[in-house]
Amino acid sequence: MIEIYHASKFGNGAMVAEELRRIMEAKGQQVNVHHIDEVRARDVPPADLYIFGSPTRFGGPIGSMKRFLKKAALPPGSRYAVFATHGAAVPDKKTGRVPTDEEMARLRRTMPIMDEILAGKGLTKVAEHMFLVSGDQMKGRLLDGWQEEAEKFADAILA
Ligand SMILES: Cc1cc2nc3c(=O)[nH]c(=O)nc-3n(C[C@H](O)[C@H](O)[C@H](O)COP(=O)(O)O)c2cc1C
Repeated sequence: MIEIYHASKFGNGAMVAEELRRIMEAKGQQVNVHHIDEVRARDVPPADLYIFGSPTRFGGPIGSMKRFLKKAALPPGSRYAVFATHGAAVPDKKTGRVPTDEEMARLRRTMPIMDEILAGKGLTKVAEHMFLVSGDQMKGRLLDGWQEEAEKFADAILA
């Protein structure tokens, strides 16, 4: 059994989670998808593999996901994969300057921070993937090609 836990606010991460479910079920896996707001961290069941997905707030995982991972009952030695959704880089509205790679990296620490919590619980990582959302409006939209990326991510997870 594969258990996916995500914390999507605007729906993009939820779409990724559902796509992963669809792809992996087509490959014969059993997959459950949960929004972390709808479950209790202490009731997380043992699983063959966990997938955690988080939106980003100020460079890190959204607070609810950080708290969830810290509290979750995850058996040491469990395997996990992680994904984050991030705003795509946009030029500064006033100056038109495009952020440098280094500046973007500082805004994209979501997966390393999740990894640190999970490593502290003795979990083993198998794969990760970053999904970009267009940055031109609040809700944004997953960039074209995201389904193919989900397919590759699923292959890496199941490899
Ligand atoms: C208050 C706020 C802060 C954000 N900060 C970042 C950030 O530091 N880095 C980043 O890549 N995206 C940032 N974003 C964009 C989110 O990553 C994006 O909204 C989210 O991944 C979309 O996923 P969801 O549709 O599943 O909620 C921010 C969004 C909001 C609303």
